[in-house]
Amino acid sequence: MSKLNPILAASAHSTEAYQQAIAQSSQAVVQWLQQPEMYQGKTVAELRERITLDFNPQGLGNQAAIERAVEYFLKDSLSVHHPQCVAHLHCPSLVISQAAEVLINATNQSMDSWDQSPSATIIEMKLIEWLRTQVGYQPGDAGVFTSGGTQSNLMGLMLARDAFFARQGHSVQQDGLVGNLTKIKVLCSENAHFSVQKNMALMGLGYQSVTLVKTDYFGRLDFNDLSEKVAQAQANGEQILAIVATAGTTDAGAIDPLRAIATLAAQHQIWVHVDAAWGGALLLSEKYRDYLGWYRIGGFHYSGLP
Ligand SMILES: Cc1ncc(COP(=O)(O)O)c(C=O)c1O
Repeated sequence: MSKLNPILAASAHSTEAYQQAIAQSSQAVVQWLQQPEMYQGKTVAELRERITLDFNPQGLGNQAAIERAVEYFLKDSLSVHHPQCVAHLHCPSLVISQAAEVLINATNQSMDSWDQSPSATIIEMKLIEWLRTQVGYQPGDAGVFTSGGTQSNLMGLMLARDAFFARQGHSVQQDGLVGNLTKIKVLCSENAHFSVQKNMALMGLGYQSVTLVKTDYFGRLDFNDLSEKVAQAQANGEQILAIVATAGTTDAGAIDPLRAIATLAAQHQIWVHVDAAWGGALLLSEKYRDYLGWYRIGGFHYSGLP
């Protein structure tokens, strides 16, 4: 096996195999990019029939394995770079990110601790620090990279939950969830990503904890309905754990009225989490960053950047 598929190391055999495999793969990608169709058109049933996982105990060898991956995976992949591929969220990737993947995969660093990834750990910390200044957070404010929007929303909601219980003198880590949990609510618009519900369920508070606020003609959270729902919740003796605003809804890219939401939340001492998985990159645009400029209003929580 190791002769056919050597571990990446300094030996001549390994580095030669590495260079061949990378050259063969990138050549295959270049050919795939020329395919005229966005998708080759196979049905689910055809793909199920065609893709077989017949494992070979001897291994195929790198060249044959790559040929097989090209045949079964690459050729029937969706061409996200195709001009007609506009219906989904995932975009074509940058050339430089291909180079980054090569370096990342070859080095296989672990971000668990500094001794497992000396330079990458420092790069991560500096990037977080740079992002902090882009958002406008104060020095000392921390951040973390997540795997995507669902995890960012989970992180934001967990922070909101922990702060909520801490205000009542409980540590969630120590005590778990205490009190009448059915009275705890999170408010978000009907167009917020479904991971809000999913994460509330994961955190033990259930789908029932999410109150949906109406949206306006542009798909943004309707501020009047939010104000009414906050008042209603208070009249019902409910406690609002957080308002989740969306900066860029999944289907339309609509940005909720962040400043108004932040002002209302400040009046009622409610935590705001902004899901900026979609629109967060506007922070890097001089022209459009003010769409997200609400954080200047004061001590709120802006998370869920991509
Ligand atoms: C606004 C928004 N939030 C969260 C998510 C979830 O992101 P992910 O699929 O990376 O978990 C999405 C994904 O489409 C999204 O559009």
